[in-house]
Parts: sequence; C-alpha cells; structure tokens
Amino acid sequence: MPATVVVGAQWGDEGKGKITDHMAESADFVVRYQGGNNAGHTIVVGDERFALTLIPSGVLNPTVTPVIGNGCVIDPAVLITEMETLRSRGIDPDGVRISNNAHLIMPYHRKLDAVMERYLGRQQIGTTKRGIGPAYTDKFSRQGIRVQDLFDPKIFREKLEVALREKNLLLTKAYNQLPMEIGTIADEYLDMAEHIKPHVTDTSQLVWNALRDDKYVLFEGAQGTLLDIDHGTYPFVTSSSPTAGGVCAGIGIGPMEVGRVVGVAKAYISRVGSGPFPTELDDEVGERMVEKGGEFGTVTGRRRRCGWLDTVALRYAVRINGISEIAFTKIDVLSSFPTLKVAVGYRSGDETYDEFPRQQRVLYDCEPVYEEVEGWSEDISGIREYDDLPPQARNYIEFVEKLVGVPIATVSVGPARSATIAK
Ligand code: IMP
Repeated sequence: MPATVVVGAQWGDEGKGKITDHMAESADFVVRYQGGNNAGHTIVVGDERFALTLIPSGVLNPTVTPVIGNGCVIDPAVLITEMETLRSRGIDPDGVRISNNAHLIMPYHRKLDAVMERYLGRQQIGTTKRGIGPAYTDKFSRQGIRVQDLFDPKIFREKLEVALREKNLLLTKAYNQLPMEIGTIADEYLDMAEHIKPHVTDTSQLVWNALRDDKYVLFEGAQGTLLDIDHGTYPFVTSSSPTAGGVCAGIGIGPMEVGRVVGVAKAYISRVGSGPFPTELDDEVGERMVEKGGEFGTVTGRRRRCGWLDTVALRYAVRINGISEIAFTKIDVLSSFPTLKVAVGYRSGDETYDEFPRQQRVLYDCEPVYEEVEGWSEDISGIREYDDLPPQARNYIEFVEKLVGVPIATVSVGPARSATIAK
C-alpha cells in the first residue's frame, strides 16, 4: 500500500498531531522524518491531554509502531523522559523505533542555539532553543555524532573530543561562555545509550519491509511548509525539510512509495518566532484568535502571532508538497466572528501577486488582498456531520477549497479525536 504523508501547510501548529493521531487509528506505522523536540503536538484522548515533542503522535495507538527516522535529530534525555512520562500514564512506548543514523543533539548544540540567538539581537530567528539548528549544522558539516556512535564508546569519545575542540573555542572566544567538559558529557550520553539501545534499528529497512508487507505507513511532518529550510521564509525557518519531499531522504525510501499527501491547514493562520507574516493581525481580532484558539506554543509556551487565512501561501504549500487533500482544523475558533476575511492575493506598490512572491521582501511590505465571507454565530464544536454545519461555515470551507484547488476532505471542530468531520 503506498504511504501517506501528513504535512503542515502553514507555519506549523496547524493541528497535525491531532490529525495524525486520528489517521493513526487505521495505521500500522507512524514515522517522523525530520526535526526533533522543537515540534510540539498536543493530542487529546478523552479527558487526557498529551503533549509530545519527539515521539510520533501515533504512539497513543497500541497497534502502531512509532518510528523516528534518520532525518530527525534526537536529544536522548528528552526521548527517555518522554518514554517514561508515557509509561507513567499507561502508554507503552516499548515499540518506539529509532534510526541508527539519526543525529544526536548534544549539550553544546543547546548552548550554542541560545547564545547565537542572543547575539543576533533584533535579527534573531526566535528558535525553540532546543539545539536543532546547531545539530543540523554539524550534520551537514560532517561533524555530527549519530545514534549508532553511542554503542561504540571509543568512537563516541573520539568524535566528542573533535567536536568539543571547536565548540569550546566558539563558546569561549566568540560567545564569552565557559567551556564544556568532555568527561561529563561522555558519561551522561553513554549512560543514556543503554536506555535507548533496545529501540535502535535500521528504520529505512523497517519501513521498506512494512511497505512490502502492505502495511499502512503514515509519515508525520513536523513544523510546516513555510518553515522549510529551502521553501520557507528563510532565514526564519527551521533547519530541516518538513515538506513532503523531505520524506525520501529523511527515512530512506523512494518517491514512488508515497501515494497520498494530506496538508493540514488551520482555518486561520499563526506563527511563532520572527519573520514576515502578511495577514498578521495586531488588533483585537488577532487577540481573539489567540484567546479562543489557545494559541500558545506546546514546546516553549510562547504566544503565537495570528491572522486571517492566507490562500496565496496555502496554494504555495499545495504546490511544494503535492498536497492531494486538506485537513482543515480549528474552524470552531472562528465561530462568532461576524465576517471572515481570506487573503486571495498580495499587493505591493503597483504589483499584485496571486502566487507566492519570488522575492521575499514583498512578504514584508505587501498588503493582503482580502475577500470577505459571512461568519456564523453558533458554536459548532459539537457537530459531527458536514451537512449539520451552518451554511456560512460550509460556504467558508468551499470558498477556500475553490481558491486552493484541492479538496478539503476533513474538517476539525475541536481538539478531541471525535471532533473530526469527514466531508
Ligand atoms: P528551531 O526549529 O528551534 O530552530 O526554530 C526555528 C523556527 O521554527 C522558529 O521560528 C520556531 O518558532 C519555529 N518552529 C520550530 N518548531 C516549530 C513548531 O513545531 N511549530 C511552530 N513553529 C516551530
């Protein structure tokens, strides 16, 4: 069976965790292919709320094998804590599988993430300070330490020594920090190695075998299209490829293995951290979105910036990912807004844009071109059938569908698993 990819179609926080968890009901494998514990996904099961950052959302389903692929960066302390937390709440994490080729987030990555941001001052990216960027930097400069190195203490210490030689120079000379001790780090990591060893495997082979055995494999993207290192609003992006194209390299499969790409888009839009945001609202409407939508980060607790739905950006996400259908989330948050605005283009100087502009400067100084549709006043969070939605809500959904050119197949009206409507 061809695999399905779930990707964020905006700047992250679209509700991918909930949609993945919902789709995982029929999945055999849920696989992360990029990012690390910068990704917060909140899942509500009954009265319980689970906030995961590294382990795939599918872990809550006992028949699912959750997989963390080679394209991810792993902070082993976070991994162990998340597994222990799950265990203490009655969820068995023993089935979690981790790639031997995934890179490790080291203490100096976290430190560098924090101090580099501080040094950037007003130009700062607003990272999650989890060491993501510095860990990927080391991966691509071929100085990274991989999960498999944990099981060869001699090699591990050697690699750590080489890395620390440079990192300590950077920390002390460039950033005026104290150096880090090799002994402490080596002891801590080699101790953690024992905890994660039973989970480590060749995840590319695992997924390949699953696909050959006709298993349902779901790839779970973290962050979102506009945070992609290549296709996002660089440099205000994350350091990996959350887009669907990232799946092949991030797990080690060919493109023909993927048959369906589900883009998750919120019925409005939000972003955390810095960077351009054409439809951002600095007024009480934006504030209401934050309040009603509970728009505070799962990982850092930061307030998210909010604004009207941007279909220029959404069409871009459809193109970049090859999205075949959209899961439209948090539409219940828009109840009681008398009028809803939807950005259908951008205007900058004498030019109008209905495609995502090539030159990023446009995103900073453009004015969105809005169309308005009528809102609805009733609470829709208890509705479970598409036809029971108020006509204005259906009109909004179908208006967006027409603008972006792919079907909205799923509508989410609340955080609970059951608050999901098939259209
Ligand atoms: P980093 O991924 O921690 O390096 O942060 C880079 C940018 O991506 C910052 O603007 C973060 O706020 C943003 N970011 C990273 N992970 C997420 C996420 O899961 N949701 C939303 N934004 C994120």
